Amino acid sequence: MNHTSIDDHHLISQVLPRHVAIIMDGNGRWAKRKGLPRIAGHKKGVEVARKIIIKSCELGIPYLSLFAFSKENWQRPREEVETLLALLVEYLNKELPLMMEKEIRFKVIGDKEDFPEVLRKKIDEVEKLTSNNNKMTLVLALSYSGRAEILRAIKKILEKLKEKALKPEEITEESLRNFFYFPELPDPDLLIRTSGELRISNFFLYQIAYTEFYFSEMLWPDFTEEEYLKALKSYQQRERRFGRVYEF
Ligand code: FPP
Repeated sequence: MNHTSIDDHHLISQVLPRHVAIIMDGNGRWAKRKGLPRIAGHKKGVEVARKIIIKSCELGIPYLSLFAFSKENWQRPREEVETLLALLVEYLNKELPLMMEKEIRFKVIGDKEDFPEVLRKKIDEVEKLTSNNNKMTLVLALSYSGRAEILRAIKKILEKLKEKALKPEEITEESLRNFFYFPELPDPDLLIRTSGELRISNFFLYQIAYTEFYFSEMLWPDFTEEEYLKALKSYQQRERRFGRVYEF
């Protein structure tokens, strides 16, 4: 089925970001405003994520990363953490057919070993089953922190140096990426954060050197395809210079 509209065609005809990263913020506030428990916001958040995943895939965006659970999120009340983990297992069970149908490859970045075995196994299973899909790569950041990723890379490099499997001169800005969670992941071209907060909150750090930012006032459960298209259009209107000067 093809859902692309005239508006979408206009968007596709220009340069699309290769990698869109999203900080899906505001689930808790959305629920509170409606007098609902926080988890109701997360549930609605999953539905919105589904729509944005499908839209990204239809538009032909090669990589989409969603920040679903940060290292810092472990400090939330136990009940919220447990429900979030249960939601993730349910999500993976439910969405595997969609990923197969849409040819979406699934990949997790973050410390998988922090998770209970049932979730770890589910992640491994979905990663494996979708590994040959090649329409879009959906990256879910789980127990992820940008600083932890950099620190982990440093430790891995130190081990290699100790084993003499690596020479100091072989460590470059590019080769450093081999020690990140998902080395092939290109830097985000566009990073979207919802809910009006103007922070990075330890999402990609090394990778956002030249990323364009789009901050939306909408809470994640209210985020729409229209707002997503607005972010993509805003990206397309920007001139990316990567520190260089263009003379006219
Ligand atoms: C921020 O809202 C959101 C999170 C902590 C992540 C949860 C995200 C989802 C449930 C969507 C998951 C998507 C998939 C594809 C599994 P918040 O709780 O920080 O909101 P607040 O700042 O208003 O409290």
